Amino acid sequence: MQLRKPTPSGALLALVAAPQLASAFYLPGVAPTSYKQDEQVPLYVNAIRPVAGADAMLHSVVSYDYYHPIFQFCRPPDGPKDVGASLGSILFGDRIKTSSFQLHMAKNETCKTLCETTYPPSAAQFINSLMNAGVSLNWLVDGLPAGQRIIDEISDTEFYNPGFLMGQHIGDTEKVQFNNHYDIIVEYHAVPGAKDEYRVVGVIVQPESRKYTGPVEADTCNQALDPVVLDEGADTKVTFTYSVYWVPSKTAWATRWDKYLHVFDPKIHWFSLVNSAFIVVFLVLTVMSILVRALRKDIARYNRLDQLSLDDLSGTSAVMEDGVQEDSGWKLVHGDVFRTPSHPLLLSVLLGNGAQLFVMTGLTIAFALLGFLSPSNRGSLGTIIILLYTVLGFIGGYTSSRLYKSMQGDRWKLCIILTPLLVPGIVFGVFFLLDLFLWAEQSSGAVPFTTMLAIILIWFLISVPLSFAGSWLGFRAPTIEPPVRTNQIPRQIPPVTTYLRPIPSALLVGLLPFGAIFVELYFIMSSIWFSRIYYMFGFLFLCYGLMIMTCASVTVLLVYFLLCAENYNWQWRAFLAPATTAVYIFLNAIIYWISKLSLGGFVGSVLYIGYSLMISFLFFILTGSIGFFASWMFVRKIYSSIKID
Ligand SMILES: *[C@@H]1O[C@H](CO)[C@@H](O)[C@H](O)[C@H]1NC(C)=O
Repeated sequence: MQLRKPTPSGALLALVAAPQLASAFYLPGVAPTSYKQDEQVPLYVNAIRPVAGADAMLHSVVSYDYYHPIFQFCRPPDGPKDVGASLGSILFGDRIKTSSFQLHMAKNETCKTLCETTYPPSAAQFINSLMNAGVSLNWLVDGLPAGQRIIDEISDTEFYNPGFLMGQHIGDTEKVQFNNHYDIIVEYHAVPGAKDEYRVVGVIVQPESRKYTGPVEADTCNQALDPVVLDEGADTKVTFTYSVYWVPSKTAWATRWDKYLHVFDPKIHWFSLVNSAFIVVFLVLTVMSILVRALRKDIARYNRLDQLSLDDLSGTSAVMEDGVQEDSGWKLVHGDVFRTPSHPLLLSVLLGNGAQLFVMTGLTIAFALLGFLSPSNRGSLGTIIILLYTVLGFIGGYTSSRLYKSMQGDRWKLCIILTPLLVPGIVFGVFFLLDLFLWAEQSSGAVPFTTMLAIILIWFLISVPLSFAGSWLGFRAPTIEPPVRTNQIPRQIPPVTTYLRPIPSALLVGLLPFGAIFVELYFIMSSIWFSRIYYMFGFLFLCYGLMIMTCASVTVLLVYFLLCAENYNWQWRAFLAPATTAVYIFLNAIIYWISKLSLGGFVGSVLYIGYSLMISFLFFILTGSIGFFASWMFVRKIYSSIKID
C-alpha cells in the first residue's frame, strides 16, 4: 500500500506548501486497483463540456451527455449504463457512463474500429457550431481523467490537462475538423513485488481526424489521411477508430494525480497572496490597536467621572469640565444600544443561517486540508458540503432562536419554521429555475429528477428536523441578558455625517474583505467555469482566515464610530455593511464575464448570472453574519466594562 495517511503535521505542511503537498494526500478509502496482463481496463465517458475556444474565451456553459442522440457516439452493444457516482459528483456535473472501448492491460492494439455513423446536415450544423466555440470530451480510465500533455511556457513544465477537444480548426482556416480517431496512451507500471499485477498511472488521449476511404486495418492508422469535416449540406459518413498504447512509467501510484494538478505561474499566486495578507494583517492590527487605545481611554474616563461625582457631590470645576466631555461618546446611548432592532425575525433567521454557513465553510476547508477532498475522490467536495450543511442545520436553528429570544421576539413559531426554509429555499429555488433552463437546452448539466428528489428528502427529513431540534434547545436556553438596561423612551439620533451614511460606509466596509479573497476568488472562478481542478486548499484556508479577520475588524470599527455618533441602530448596519462584500463579488463576476467569457445566447447568460447571484447571496449571509457577531461581542464587551448608575 502506498497510501499516505493524513496527519496533523502533514496538514500543517500542506498549509504552508499547499500547491506541492496538498496533492500528495489521498482519501484512505481510495485503494489502487491492480489488473492482470490482458485484463480489460474499463474506460468510462463523462459529460461533454464547453472549454475555452481558440480565442481563449469561454463561449458556453452548457454541457451535454456523451450519449446525447445528436452526437451519435458509439454505444456499447447492450446500451450505456450509469456508473455509480456520489451526490456531490452528480451535482457538480459528472454524468459517468460505460463505453464500448476495449482496453486490455499492457497490450498494444492499433486502429480498432468502434462503429460507423452518418451525420445528417442538421447534426453537422450543431456539432460544427459547438466545436467552433470549443468543446471537450471527458473520459476516465481507472478513475484518472484522460488528459492532454501541455507544456506551460512560463515555468517550462509539463502537465496533463483533463479532457481533449472534440474537434478543432484546421490550421488557420475557418473549417473545423471532427476527431474520429483516438490514440489512447496509458501509462502503467508493474506492482513491485507482485507477479502479473499492473496499475494505471496516467492517461493521455491524442484525438485525430481521419477520413477513411477504404477498409480499416491494423496498420491503416500509419497512413496519412485527410481530416473529416462534417458537411452541413449533405450526409457525412464517419468511422470511429482508436489505438491503445501502453507505455511503462515510473510514476508511483500515490503520486499519479500530481501531473494533473498544475499551478499556472505559482510565483504570482504566492506573491499576490502574501501581498494581500500583509496589507490585511497590517491594516487590521493598526485599526485594532487604535480602537483598543481609544476604548481604554473612554472607559477610564467614564469610570473616573463616576468616581469623581460620587466622591465630590458638591461638584468642582474639574467635574464640570469632564461633564461637558461626557455629553458625547458611546456611553450616552447605553440605554438604547440593546433596543430590539427593526425586523428582529428576519435578522435572526439570516444570522442563524449565517452561523450554519460559517461553520460549514470552516469544516469543509479543514477536511480539504486534511486531504479528504483530493480530486482523486470525485465529487467529495460537493458531497461533504451537502452533508455538513444538512447536519449543521442544528446550529442554524439554535443560533437563530437564541438570538430571536434575546431580541424579545414573540413570533417564535415563525422563527423556527423560517430558519431552515427561507435561505435554503431561495438557493434551491434559483437552482431549480436554472435547472429548468438547462433542461430546456437538453444539457446534461440539468440535475436528474432522482437527485433533485434526494436533495429535497435530505433537506426535509434530516436538515429541517435537526434545525427544529436546535431551535427548541435555543428557546429553552436562558435569555442572553444585555449588560445594561434599555430605557423606556428611545433617544433621538443626531443627523449623520457623510462617511457614516448607510451606503458609503457599507461600500467601504465591504471592500476590505473582498480585497482579502479577491485572488483566490479568481482561481475558484476559473475552476468553476473552465472546469479546472481546484485543490489549493491551503491558500483557501488562509484567505478564509483573512476574510474573517477583515470582516470582523472593519465592522467593529464601523459600529464604534456609529455609537460615538450616538447612532444606536447598529444591528442591521453591522450585518449589511460587511455583506456588501457580496456586491463586490457579483461585480467581480461581471468583470470576469466581460474579460474571460463571451457567452453567446440567452441561456448561457442567464445561467452565468444565476449562478453568480446564488454564490453572491451565500457570501452576503456569510460575511454579514461574521460582521454582526463580531460587533455583537464587541458591543456587549464595551458596555459591560463601564459603570452605569
Ligand atoms: C506499446 O507501444 C509503445 C509506443 O510504441 C511502446 O513504447 C510500448 O513499449 C509498447 N508496449 C507494449 C506492452 O508493447
